[in-house]
Amino acid sequence: MLKVLPFETSHTDVEHELLERVLPEHARVLDAGCGRTTRLCGYGSRIDELVGVDMDVPAGRENRSLDRFEPCDLCAPLPFPDSSFDLVYANFVVEHLAEPERAFSEWRRVLAPGGALVLLTSNRSNPAIRLAQAVPQRMRVAVKHGLAGVAERDVFPAVYRANTVGRLDRMLARAGFRRVDVHGVATLHRYAGGHETLAAVLRAGERILPAGCRSTIVAAYRAAAAARAA
Ligand SMILES: C[S@@+](CC[C@H](N)C(=O)[O-])C[C@H]1O[C@@H](n2cnc3c(N)ncnc32)[C@H](O)[C@@H]1O
Repeated sequence: MLKVLPFETSHTDVEHELLERVLPEHARVLDAGCGRTTRLCGYGSRIDELVGVDMDVPAGRENRSLDRFEPCDLCAPLPFPDSSFDLVYANFVVEHLAEPERAFSEWRRVLAPGGALVLLTSNRSNPAIRLAQAVPQRMRVAVKHGLAGVAERDVFPAVYRANTVGRLDRMLARAGFRRVDVHGVATLHRYAGGHETLAAVLRAGERILPAGCRSTIVAAYRAAAAARAA
């Protein structure tokens, strides 16, 4: 169950709060599905090495915040030894994974015991996200581009295989993670395209939903002491 929390509308504020709790000094960090940019560049003083992986090779090579980029599919074995990282970070990546459980097992394997996972992802329990799943990809591209300013090349097909709080908890527990904190954050107002009234309506709509149905899940988990068998 989600804790009763204030109505949260900024995924970046919640992310910051979680990173403050779980990101150690001198951290070795894996940005899983790094794309072209990473907000982790704001934590440089605590990160000794920031490694990015992505199957979109041009995007990863363009990412100037990384110390190193490795092209790879997150649903296949990662090219790192066990216990290579103190933090795995995945910003709007889980919803795209065809085999999230394989990815989660690999994230657990490459994390040192006690290392942390911070992820942000869309919540399929939200009615608007469920509706978006039924919408053809070209329409999703038009909405994300027109209203949220996302470049067309950065709108990836989403499959939402792990995208409810319950599914995430269960899949991550099976992969050897224990929950630290999970927040349901209302973020649909980002799609209001600068229209204040529409933004207010979207915020009001999310406010009446239970936290577990808000549009974005922002969560932190810790690697359990021993990895479970995949
Ligand atoms: C919405 S973008 C987010 C990019 C970046 N994390 C950010 O915050 O801007 C999703 C990213 O996940 C990557 N991705 C999706 N499925 C993947 C997979 N199976 N293996 C590796 N990367 C994947 C995409 O190539 C893309 O760069």
